Amino acid sequence: MPIIAPTPQNIQLAAEQIRQGKLVVMPTETVYGLGADALNAAAVAHIFELKNRPRFNPLISHIADAALLSEYAIADERAIILAQHFWPGPLTFVLKRKHHNPALDLACAGLETMTIRMPNHPVALALIRAANTPIVAPSANLFQSISPTTAALTQQNLGNRAPLILDGGPCSVGVESTILDLTTPRATLLRPGGLSVDKLESVLNEKIILADGNTNHPTAPGQLKKHYAPSRPLRINVTDPQPNEFYIGFGTTTGRADLNLSPSGDLREAAANLFAFLYQADAQTDYPALAVAPIPNIGLGMAINDRLTRAACQSDT
Ligand code: TXA
Ligand code: MG
Repeated sequence: MPIIAPTPQNIQLAAEQIRQGKLVVMPTETVYGLGADALNAAAVAHIFELKNRPRFNPLISHIADAALLSEYAIADERAIILAQHFWPGPLTFVLKRKHHNPALDLACAGLETMTIRMPNHPVALALIRAANTPIVAPSANLFQSISPTTAALTQQNLGNRAPLILDGGPCSVGVESTILDLTTPRATLLRPGGLSVDKLESVLNEKIILADGNTNHPTAPGQLKKHYAPSRPLRINVTDPQPNEFYIGFGTTTGRADLNLSPSGDLREAAANLFAFLYQADAQTDYPALAVAPIPNIGLGMAINDRLTRAACQSDT
């Protein structure tokens, strides 16, 4: 897919792609992001598929109006003050989220938190406004490679997987945003980034706690410990569900299924439904247990199986 100049016409074109559930590479002041409509579950699933990640990671939702922060998340006084000072800019908040729907459940990787920022780049802001939806965007690189800071590096990194790339020039900040967890009584730094801790502390008037982990590492907050797991036992790779089990099927090979992640066996559709179905299954209190059909361990199926395996052993609750 081509690299295109950020003319008003091309921004409209890219916004139209976002609205249609397609992916677009969006320049920001930190790094280039692989963007999709945060409210379209299949589009969000496509991000994970394209990045080739073996597990689901919560994504940052990008907004173009600071007032929308309170629309999606429970923003306390700290968040409001910091947003006033540093937005638009390289600062991302983790806050308790307000909404549940299949797209946000997947974008938030099943966490009760939502990760939000308002980027300081005219092209990103124009794109988000034209698309009229929050845009989720991880850095626009494949799994385990470096976050790209120009359109050409993005193209090089994504190769023939690259969707439309809006060229916003070289990123002025060049490192990812600072991620601050505000779900805790003391503000906690999850990832150092483009905005320094000193600056944050001077506005907050308090010391920020430094998380011991790296957010790219699975033991970091949000990656394992706070992940949603069903409250009842879950069996995976099940082809013979018991009568007392709420059964989530996949494809046509299964017999009785209370829900089916994808009747046609489409892994992107299955990923789009996964978190929402786990919530839904867990709400069926007349079943003491849950079971899920086998999912092929290829492509997005690996991320789905990673999530299901951890939900099944419940070691991460
Ligand atoms: O500068 C940036 O933040 C760029 C641009 C595109 O905005 N985005 C970016 O996204 O770096 P990503 O997905 O590559 O990195 C976000 C990191 C991931 O490691 C993710 O696991 C972590 O933030 N993260 C997101 N939500 C989290 C949460 N609720 N708790 C803990 N970690 C979280
Ligand atoms: Mg990244």
